[in-house]
Amino acid sequence: MMLHVPDVLTPEQVRGLRTALQATDWVDGRQTVGEQGARVKRNRQLPEHSSVSRELGKSVLTALSRNQLFFSAALPLRFVPPLFNRYESGEHYGLHVDGAVRSVPGTGEQLRTDLSCTLFLSEPEEYEGGELEVVDTYGTHEVKLPAGDLIVYPSTSLHRVQPVTQGARVCSFFWVQSMVRENHQRAMLFELDQQIQKLRARIGECDETVALTGHYHNLLRLWSEV
Ligand code: NI
Repeated sequence: MMLHVPDVLTPEQVRGLRTALQATDWVDGRQTVGEQGARVKRNRQLPEHSSVSRELGKSVLTALSRNQLFFSAALPLRFVPPLFNRYESGEHYGLHVDGAVRSVPGTGEQLRTDLSCTLFLSEPEEYEGGELEVVDTYGTHEVKLPAGDLIVYPSTSLHRVQPVTQGARVCSFFWVQSMVRENHQRAMLFELDQQIQKLRARIGECDETVALTGHYHNLLRLWSEV
């Protein structure tokens, strides 16, 4: 399941991040990928261990922790701290799949990448090209979102970033290990949760919404790994 999560950051927060990112040094994005990725990846990133990257990454996760739609869809257990990338002058990232396991810097821990996230920090009209294309069983999906919006998609998907031919595309990206490993089970829980919330908004809390909420939690108990 791919999901567009709007307004993860306010316009003010986007401006703050963009200003901080302007004052930093970018390095070759091939530093954080394996062999297959390195062959097709042409972009720049903030150094993974830089204090700026860590601080900005924290602010992204803080904003995300307040986002109920993201929580309901991702059921996050752990995050790889957000990184930041920049594409310009024809830079691109060819078709690839994200590595299945990543280490969490500074912790010695490893995390299974269930979900990949891209948080857009540039407005679509600021650059030409730069579409994120995600391939799944239903075809290829093209994604180019307003600044502050996020796309979350299964890390099992092949994906690419088209060349940026004008302007610059700045994003934050990160991975999530979900409490629920299987995409179809997570998607079912998301659908159930969303319908319960709509029902509650329409008719208020009643015996049926309480029973359905119980059903949701019992499925989560059955399927989660925490
Ligand atoms: Ni990727």
